[in-house]
This record gives sequence, structure tokens and C-alpha cells, in this order.
Amino acid sequence: MTAWLDHFLFGLYPYICLAVFFLGSWIRFDRDQYTWKSDSSQLLRSGNLRWANNLFHIGVLFLFFGHFVGLLTPHFLYEPFISAGHKQLLAMVSGGVAGVLGFVGVSMLLYRRLSDARIRATSKTSDIVLLWIFWAQLALGLATIPLSAQHLDGSMMLLLAEWGQRIVTFRSGAVEMLASAGWVFKTHLFLGMTVFLIFPFTRLVHIWSGFGTLAYLLRPYQLVRARRLNLPQGHNRPSRGI
Ligand code: HEM
Repeated sequence: MTAWLDHFLFGLYPYICLAVFFLGSWIRFDRDQYTWKSDSSQLLRSGNLRWANNLFHIGVLFLFFGHFVGLLTPHFLYEPFISAGHKQLLAMVSGGVAGVLGFVGVSMLLYRRLSDARIRATSKTSDIVLLWIFWAQLALGLATIPLSAQHLDGSMMLLLAEWGQRIVTFRSGAVEMLASAGWVFKTHLFLGMTVFLIFPFTRLVHIWSGFGTLAYLLRPYQLVRARRLNLPQGHNRPSRGI
């Protein structure tokens, strides 16, 4: 790939995506809270939604945390416990299982959204685009597994992680880490960043709320008092009107 395109896509684009992700989410939460929802379509047709949605969410939630921890944990922190090669194998197996679950789930969600007339009619363009992006992203992610199997020493994984760590810590030299990465890895990175770019304009904002619900574990419980009237004997309760 030409050098300037590499520099744009993997040196500058990540920051554009992250800025739009954080600022866009903040502005939408501030201005349009009534549009902030997962836009459930369960009332239109539940059918295979339970299987499709659960498979998809189990897969992507695992992959989300797997990528977060796997990419952003500095090598020296896990080196004493697990070698790069073993970590790569762990990522390939666990990510492979989660990827297949997510891929089956998203394929079912896509089929449902496109084939059911009522769901199709009430879908926004972004609902459909989003599912196609996840479909392609999961397929690309799964396609990296046989490629990684060709170098089991973890060297490519270390380079990709170094790219991610240099980006989030604003260090130079990130783009150079991807010099030997093939198009499957690069397209996977590009689409992954694009998810952050479109995030605030789609139903994906529900992910903030999904994680936000964890706050319920820590907040003080709600006090609910019954509205009991202790009236002296012989008095009727006041009428509640007609
Ligand atoms: C944080 C925890 C999460 C919770 C509690 C959650 C919850 C939900 C709910 C309730 C729905 C609506 C399902 C319905 O139609 O009834 C939904 C849909 C969806 N979620 Fe999540 N979600 C979470 C995380 C994620 C993540 C990490 C992703 C992707 C990276 C994601 C992507 C989607 C998509 C694409 C849909 C639409 C599915 C469709 O087309 O019907 N969610 N989610």
C-alpha cells in the first residue's frame, strides 16, 4: 500500500475515529437522549431473535474484551506468565470460538432483518449497514486465524499490539509496525476503527448503557415506602374518587 495511504489509515484515521466516538457520543447523549436506545425489534417478531441476538452478543462481548485486553496489555506485563506464542494460540482458539458464535448470530440477525417485511420496513439504513459491517468484520477476523497459524511464534500479534499501544499512548512509529501485515489484517483494523467512527450515529450507543448498568452494583439501593394510612378504628379509608 502506498506510504501516504498507510499513514492516513493507520496513523491519522484512528484519532479521527476516536475523537468522533467520544465527542459524538457525548453530544448525542446531551442533545438526543430519547434516541439513545438499542431499538429492540422484539415486539415486531421474536422468533429466532433470542438465539440470534444471544449468540451474537456472547460472541462480540467476548471479542470486545479479548481485543481490549489482548491488544493493550504491554508485553512485559504478561511475559513472566505466558509466552507470546502461547498467548497467540490462546487468542486464536478462544477468539475463533467466539468469532464463530458471533458470525452465526450476526448472519441470523441479518437474515431476520432483511427477510421479515415489517422489520425491514422499520429498519434504518444504519441498522442494516451495521449488521453488514459486523458480518464482514467477523469474517475477516476469522480469516486471520489460518494466517496466524503460519507463524505461531506470536510475532505478528506483538506487532499489531505494539501498533495499538503506540496509537493510544500517542507515540510515534505506530504505522511502521504494520509494514509486514497483509491486507486481511489491515482491512480488519480499518473496519474495526470504522465501527468507532459510526458508533454515535447508530444504535450502538446502547453499549455505553450496557456497561453503565454495572453501576447498579455499586449505587445505594432505592428506598420504596408503602403508602399506608394508619386510621383509627371505625374510619373508612378515604375514597380514591370515581
Ligand atoms: C454492553 C452490553 C450490551 C447489552 C446489554 C446489549 C443489549 C442489546 C439489546 C437489548 C439489543 C436489542 C435486541 C432486540 O432487538 O430486542 C441489542 C441489539 C444490538 N446490539 Fe447489543 N448489547 C450490548 C453490547 C453490544 C456490543 C458490544 C455490540 C457490538 C460490538 C452490540 C451490537 C448490537 C447490535 C448490532 C444490535 C442490533 C441487532 C439487530 O439487528 O437486531 N451490542 N443489544
